[in-house]
Amino acid sequence: MEKREKLYEGKAKKLYATDHPDVLWVEYMNQATAGNGAKKEQIDGKGRLNNRITSVIFEELRYRGIASHFLKQISETEQLNRHLTMFPLEIIARNIAAGSFAKRYGMEEGTVLSRPVVEFCLKNDALGDPFINTDDAIALGIATPDQLDIIRAKAREVNHALTAMFADINVTLVDFKIEMGVTSDGTILLADEVTPDTCRLWDKAKTSAGHIERLDKDIFRKDLGSIIPAYEEILERLEKLNAAH
Ligand code: C5P
Repeated sequence: MEKREKLYEGKAKKLYATDHPDVLWVEYMNQATAGNGAKKEQIDGKGRLNNRITSVIFEELRYRGIASHFLKQISETEQLNRHLTMFPLEIIARNIAAGSFAKRYGMEEGTVLSRPVVEFCLKNDALGDPFINTDDAIALGIATPDQLDIIRAKAREVNHALTAMFADINVTLVDFKIEMGVTSDGTILLADEVTPDTCRLWDKAKTSAGHIERLDKDIFRKDLGSIIPAYEEILERLEKLNAAH
């Protein structure tokens, strides 16, 4: 496989074309951002950790019956993915109130939701990734009603599988963001990444009524110290789980 021209540079990844039209070459960077790029830092080791974490998670999801764009990890910081036509949507699933949901509805962080929530934001940095409902998404031509039904159902399946997978490593999956795209034959697939950058992950053993032990990017967002030990902890637990499968 040959790496060709750069197609896109995001906040955490660079995407390159390859000599195969259906394959994307993805490089994970050390950059961390929060607040839509308002806070930005280079963190040594982050690219390597997220590349490995998302590779293991996509393998674990495949083991649990969920297909994704992931093909294979090719170096410490690079992987090959299927090249999809992406929906410009941030698909968020939530099990516990936190972050923007807790703020929007005036809820205490940590309140367990009576039913998991799936919500959509328009992926548009210039607009600050605004909340979007399905009628808006259809009117804007982002997806058809049938595609949105599939996206919502798949997000719930991913939530179910990821919740079980993280429970196996003694971590509570609070919420996460995923993206999806469509193959040339019209199949909708999970894409982008699943890492502590895109999930809220709380250590079950060390979280209690008065304390949250965070193992995710909230450590960076809230200036609580280095993210590296937390990301390493997540990876170490996932590697053990993966080795058993
Ligand atoms: O900030 P908010 O509570 O809406 O985030 C919900 C979930 O989506 C969190 O796990 C967060 O890490 C993730 N997220 C993301 N990228 C964004 C916005 C949110 O990965 N641009």
